Amino acid sequence: MSDSSSASVAATLKSLPTDMELVLKVIPMPADVNANGDIFGGWVMAQCDLAGSVIPARYAKGRMATVAVNEFIFKQPVRLGDILSFYSKLVKIGRTSITVTVEVFAERFKAQGEYLKVTQATFTYVAIDDNGRPRAIERE
Ligand SMILES: CC(C)(COP(=O)(O)OP(=O)(O)OC[C@H]1O[C@@H](n2cnc3c(N)ncnc32)[C@H](O)[C@@H]1OP(=O)(O)O)[C@@H](O)C(=O)NCCC(=O)NCCS
Repeated sequence: MSDSSSASVAATLKSLPTDMELVLKVIPMPADVNANGDIFGGWVMAQCDLAGSVIPARYAKGRMATVAVNEFIFKQPVRLGDILSFYSKLVKIGRTSITVTVEVFAERFKAQGEYLKVTQATFTYVAIDDNGRPRAIERE
């Protein structure tokens, strides 16, 4: 059963993940709000896709494409004025694909230094050649 106060009692953290890499920080702007006045989920998804591509780019060393959003969970709303920190971690390197997780933490307006996990997602990217076909990732 939902509780109208659940968002306000969600646990905030005093620190950010130490086993993941900070790949992006961004502040949503008024153009990014939905009809509720919160931030549009599609904007959050686009930022996560960009953030998720940072670690795979190191392995793909060239063109790549997002092939799958394996999981996407909006745990808490993103609000205007939040400072968003995107953390990512490698999950798997396949023959042509790389899978990563992305977690997003919000510092609410006037509550900097307190971090609320708002989103978690898993993406798979594929290294592609000049014809847009999958390309084997060079293993070192
Ligand atoms: C990415 C693309 C080139 C892959 O082509 P494909 O013929 O599906 O390739 P394959 O079946 O050989 O799969 C390639 C890799 O992707 C992985 N993959 C394919 N579909 C997947 C899925 N639904 N979930 C997770 N991984 C997937 C495969 O497991 C494989 O990984 P591996 O080589 O590491 O084992 C093609 O699907 C494509 O062009 N998609 C559009 C990409 C795009 O435009 N993205 C932006 C969205 S707007």
